[in-house]
Amino acid sequence: MTKTAGKGPDHVAIIMDGNGRWAQARGKARLFGHHAGARRVKEIVRACPGLGVKYLTIFAFSTENWKRTQSEVAGLMSLFRRYIQREAQELLAEGVRVRFIGDRIRLDDKLVQMMDELELLTSNNDKVHLTVALNYGGRDEVARATRRLAHDVKAGKLDPKNVDEETLPKYLDTYVLPDPDLVIRTSGEARISNFLLWQSAYSEYEFIDTLWPDFTKRIFAEIVENFAGRERRFGAVLT
Ligand code: IPE
Ligand code: IPE
Ligand code: MG
Repeated sequence: MTKTAGKGPDHVAIIMDGNGRWAQARGKARLFGHHAGARRVKEIVRACPGLGVKYLTIFAFSTENWKRTQSEVAGLMSLFRRYIQREAQELLAEGVRVRFIGDRIRLDDKLVQMMDELELLTSNNDKVHLTVALNYGGRDEVARATRRLAHDVKAGKLDPKNVDEETLPKYLDTYVLPDPDLVIRTSGEARISNFLLWQSAYSEYEFIDTLWPDFTKRIFAEIVENFAGRERRFGAVLT
């Protein structure tokens, strides 16, 4: 195994948490915090090329977030639609390739159509690969992947003898992406809440207290630069 100290992360994944508390602290409704959080995304995406970050994956809505009130869920869904509508042209112009991961089955048709269109619109871009996890859960992703894998076995396309740890990732939503090198979670919670379970097996984690709407490109740059000083061993003993 090679020592990676000194190298910046190619792929950063972020659990954007703390919007609700940020709004509450200002005496506002939770949705106000989600809007403030959405505005941060652009700043962070824009900062990626300068920091050498090629892949950015952000957790926008989890398979568990449906447990929230109907009005918060509806507000978030409408925010996602508005965001895509407003930002599509700029993302295209800035060389951002957008992808979505997660189960689309529970999302409304209009939103799914907009997601498909944005993926297609930006499919020739290569400057930054932005992946948005929407109705995403790591366990749900592995379950869906296993279902597809089982279908291939049944159809005779895959021999169970050949199933190894290279096989399953090909069925995951992230099949085209490298594993994240660094996972950041804002808002002080030190848990991963079902995010990229398989993919983050060897990721470095950074849990910070800042609430997502307060997360600036400066804080982002500091964390990314700090990553270069970490020694990743991948189970080996470095000499
Ligand atoms: C993260 O902020 C955004 C989503 C989960 C959609 P939260 O809404 O979880 O904010 P807190 O954790 O309640 O402060
Ligand atoms: C994780 O945050 C999901 C997203 C950031 C979209 P949550 O706020 O839903 O996670 P828990 O409930 O604190 O674990
Ligand atoms: Mg939260």
